[in-house]
Amino acid sequence: MAEAVRLEQVLVNLIQNAQEVLAGHPDPEIRISVQRRGDRIELSVTDNGPGLTPQAWENLFIPFSTSKADGLGLGLVIAQGIARDFGGDLLADPPEPGRGATFRVILQAAA
Ligand SMILES: Nc1ncnc2c1ncn2[C@@H]1O[C@H](COP(=O)(O)OP(=O)(O)OP(=O)(O)O)[C@@H](O)[C@H]1O
Ligand SMILES: [Mg+2]
Repeated sequence: MAEAVRLEQVLVNLIQNAQEVLAGHPDPEIRISVQRRGDRIELSVTDNGPGLTPQAWENLFIPFSTSKADGLGLGLVIAQGIARDFGGDLLADPPEPGRGATFRVILQAAA
């Protein structure tokens, strides 16, 4: 259950963040997958970049928290708001050393 234009905005935000952390990476990879879990649909975006620091993870959805010189720190806040408007959510997996970042868009499955 979503709306195409706003779902696109959520995905563009996640893919753009992944692309930004992968700049200069010798073997960049972004994986997008979608899976049904009961009455939920889970759409994940994973990159093989540096991953999130514990501090970045804690502040991800706080407006204006950014680690980028030219970042606004609003992309994820807006994306999470959209996912919640759909009756879903946007989450990030807790950081694991040596792993990239994984973001999950949770949506309600249509009946
Ligand atoms: N894939 C990722 N890997 C590592 N860190 C990430 C990733 N995605 C987001 N982050 C961290 O989360 C912060 C917030 O992301 P968010 O998209 O909300 O803002 P931003 O990218 O800094 O600015 P903008 O508002 O222009 O999107 C980033 O500055 C970065 O530190
Ligand atoms: Mg961003």
